[in-house]
Amino acid sequence: MFSSRVPGELAPNRLTLAIARARAAERTILDLTIANPTVAGFEYPGSLLKTLADTAALRYEPRPFGLPPARAAVARDYGRRGVAVNADRIVLTASTSEAYSHLFKLLCEAARDAVMIPVPSYPLFEHLTRLDGVGCIPYRLDYHGRWTVELDGIDSAWTDRVRAVLAVSPNNPTGSVLSALEADELARRCAARGAALILDEVFADFPLDAGRAADALQPWPCLTFRLGGLSKSAGLPQVKLGWMAVEGPDALVCEALARLELICDTYLSVSTPVQVAAPALIAGGAAVRQAILARVRANYAALSRLAGAYPAVDLLHADAGWSAVIRVPSTRSEEDLVLELLERDGVLVHPGFFFDFPHESFIVVSLLAAPAAFEEGVRRLLERAVA
Ligand SMILES: Cc1ncc(COP(=O)(O)O)c(C=O)c1O
Repeated sequence: MFSSRVPGELAPNRLTLAIARARAAERTILDLTIANPTVAGFEYPGSLLKTLADTAALRYEPRPFGLPPARAAVARDYGRRGVAVNADRIVLTASTSEAYSHLFKLLCEAARDAVMIPVPSYPLFEHLTRLDGVGCIPYRLDYHGRWTVELDGIDSAWTDRVRAVLAVSPNNPTGSVLSALEADELARRCAARGAALILDEVFADFPLDAGRAADALQPWPCLTFRLGGLSKSAGLPQVKLGWMAVEGPDALVCEALARLELICDTYLSVSTPVQVAAPALIAGGAAVRQAILARVRANYAALSRLAGAYPAVDLLHADAGWSAVIRVPSTRSEEDLVLELLERDGVLVHPGFFFDFPHESFIVVSLLAAPAAFEEGVRRLLERAVA
């Protein structure tokens, strides 16, 4: 009766059941999986959403790629990060997830083609590809003091079905940023094999130390789509404004934009109020971004200090983003450790297997939590991990 593309209801596993039990018992939980900045105790300027009520939005002017002032504001924002993009190559979407869906429709023939996805990375890719009937072929990131792309794995897994390579930089949850060399290697492979590069940069504004920002490789030798949005850059996931910048050889960009226009025109999903408000939201979101950046940096520094006292525990190096990975002794399964932490210590964390880490035992913590709760949660985690 239902399409096999729609993932079924997730079977309740031991962890979801334990979370439900803890919530039913109204236990206080230190949540180190928090990914929603709007409930993480940040102070949002009271006037931030005022422009959503601008009466200019009473007039509907359907534009497949978005209203020109909004696209220009996004292009200016790329400039802030040192990336030069022309506004006529900016396409607005309701979210990054929607941008992925548009791109799968643009680049892939359903039920035939595939995209390559990094592992470990954002778990939603499996659903996003499946819902568009697109196959996904994993390629590995390996950790040798920093995360690197396993390029040989890409070559050996590549088939003529591959239409795009997805790269997430900074990656969720590893916090790794592609080096210029890795970006170049990926782009050269895509160019040589007629595939596109999809670069998810939603965490690019959150370098964990001042030294390392996302590397910008321009000009790209292949058709390239850089994805971003207010969800992370202004801590506003509920506002629903994402975007992509289309780059690469002119002929490929023009052809892609012509076909993308039809897809965007079919849905016209970005609301007029958010487009009218976009310049003000991007400008006003800077204050929230700064607050998030200060917090993730402080929490990562605290984690580094606290983990340093536990020789059996290894904090993996992260360049940027909202999460950190800790390698812990494999004295029990990740699932058992996470359950014990929840049930005995009142701390919720993600096990590495949630993100498809290659083996056990890894724990992923969100750096978004309020500092006092974060430090207390990490203290309990470290004690439990070595107990
Ligand atoms: C790597 C990555 N890309 C995209 C998204 C989703 O962004 P959006 O809210 O714009 O769909 C997330 C959300 O956590 C993410 O981690």
